[in-house]
Amino acid sequence: MNSKIITVDGPSGVGKGTIAMMIAESLGFKYLDSGSLYRSLALKLFEKNQNFDEVLSNLDYWMSDILIDFKYAKGQKSKIFVNGEDFTDKIRTEKVAMLASKIAINKSARDMLEKYQRSYIKDPGLVADGRDMGTKVFSEAKIKFFLTASVEKRAERRLNQLKDQGISANLRNLIQKLLLRDKADMERTISPLIPAEDAIIIDTSDITASEVFNTAIKIIRENLKII
Ligand code: C5P
Repeated sequence: MNSKIITVDGPSGVGKGTIAMMIAESLGFKYLDSGSLYRSLALKLFEKNQNFDEVLSNLDYWMSDILIDFKYAKGQKSKIFVNGEDFTDKIRTEKVAMLASKIAINKSARDMLEKYQRSYIKDPGLVADGRDMGTKVFSEAKIKFFLTASVEKRAERRLNQLKDQGISANLRNLIQKLLLRDKADMERTISPLIPAEDAIIIDTSDITASEVFNTAIKIIRENLKII
């Protein structure tokens, strides 16, 4: 197998998903949204037992019968199923994101999801977005991007996404939540949110998604033969 892997990491609301999907579509690669796996696992666990301390203290037991299935087809919205139930829309709240962040500090959860993430390596290639795609899960990837943006810009984008989904939110509140989640993701000991040493960093604060995509695809096309 000679699959090419491209990773797109960064904090929440930075536009990783949009850019990663645009890259996958343009190259005819598979796409994987690893955050949706953390969100789905967290929500399913929460549905089973709202006492997260209890869940975290015996995670292997609580996770044992959970089957997550992420599906992506070119030109279509990706979908995620948990034990056959469609979780695509209900994982998109800030509450679920915070739960995901709590689960994300746990080694068993990360190991289980890492195995699943690696099963997505398929020819001709994969574009994966998340927090530790370039540093851990696909550390062998030859092209790694790390997107950044100011917290205000990220909160504005998240506000617009939520509005589009008919969910109302408050900007200041969102900024607080993003800062809290950034802190938890950056300060955890396992797979913290940091750029890989060989990642190309792109600040997306003042440029459009098309501009980020154009920058990224140019770099990819220049390097595709050697990756
Ligand atoms: O990217 P998204 O906002 O959907 O991710 C939700 C949470 O899942 C993150 O805040 C982070 O705690 C966790 N996550 C992670 N590693 C990944 C992807 C997501 O720890 N690769």
